[in-house]
Amino acid sequence: MMKKIYAAITGVNAWVPDYRLNNHELATMVDTSDEWIMQRIGIRERRILKGEGLGSSYMGSRAVKGLLKKTNTSRDEVDVLVCATITPDRVFPATANIISDKVGIKNAFSFDMNAACSGFIFALQTAANFVEVGKYKKVVVVAVDKMSTITDYTDRTTCPLFGDGAAAVMLEPTAEKIGVIDHIFHTDGNGRHHLNMKAGGSERPPTFDTVKNREHFVYQEGQTVFKFAVSKMADVAVEMMEKHHISADELAWLVPHQANMRIIDATARRMGIRKEQVMINIEKYGNTTSATIPLCLWEWENRLKKGDNIILAAFGGGFTWGSVYVKWAYNGKSSQV
Ligand code: UT7
Repeated sequence: MMKKIYAAITGVNAWVPDYRLNNHELATMVDTSDEWIMQRIGIRERRILKGEGLGSSYMGSRAVKGLLKKTNTSRDEVDVLVCATITPDRVFPATANIISDKVGIKNAFSFDMNAACSGFIFALQTAANFVEVGKYKKVVVVAVDKMSTITDYTDRTTCPLFGDGAAAVMLEPTAEKIGVIDHIFHTDGNGRHHLNMKAGGSERPPTFDTVKNREHFVYQEGQTVFKFAVSKMADVAVEMMEKHHISADELAWLVPHQANMRIIDATARRMGIRKEQVMINIEKYGNTTSATIPLCLWEWENRLKKGDNIILAAFGGGFTWGSVYVKWAYNGKSSQV
């Protein structure tokens, strides 16, 4: 029998803009306070990409360029590039194609995926499938969102939540049982009523009225989304532990989507793990939608060891939610130049 091919994450990189929008500055824009935001959400500041004409591909191409350098990969070797985003440069063509062009990747096919906050984990599994069939050797997943372009800075119930950022991982085949091991994914399209952008698509194209009515921004019924997120994200994370008989002690890390500190805490509690086992950087970056999970992996990369059991878990727009079980493939930094 042919040996199963696994898709190992062999490198991770990120790029975030310099500008930090902190809670004090936000409090000059809407009626809010540092205290409320820290207590109810747990975000202190978020990065914002300033400058005219800079879209998600600006950040994504920087994350990917750095990833190729770190993993000693030439641009010509990349076979596939998948971009997870809900804030593409344009409705079409795909931001993945623009990123490939900016990086100089010429031998790959590329496309975008829209799974909102579950974008990275859905794209990671899709990319892993390409590797596992044995046909592709270097597959890049880049997760990027420029949430500041769809955030209504007159709406205090949503504007503290989001930030801009990009992160990317490299997937390569291995015969060892490491890398992307398993996934549990769900969607519930009925969730669209509670978290969406009202206009700008084919159902309601942009008009003067949609702009005037501020319908090109994130619309969220916070409490409803919160309730779903708390139960569903914990459900799939616990289910993954049980399915693979991973005890709380055997789990090296939970990498949760960073939407609200209280959702992260509740998930960790349900899993019976300690806070020290959870990657948390929501305080610094807020909710960067697709990019939250790989941004964590990038920050913690130094501390990761080969064989570490890691569960990635997300919940977001769609609704989409899921968990991925990853066995980390290398010690510390990837092959850096
Ligand atoms: O990543 C995609 C998935 N998204 C999520 O997972 C987000 C899930 N939802 C949440 O994280 C929370 O629902 C929010 C952070 C959005 C809101 O927190 P909450 O604890 O659910 O607040 P709430 O909506 O129940 O509002 C409580 C109060 C209200 O005032 P009243 O009606 O009690 O007088 C709000 O008007 O807090 C008020 N409020 C604020 N006050 C100060 C809402 N936003 C703010 C604010 N500053 N920024």
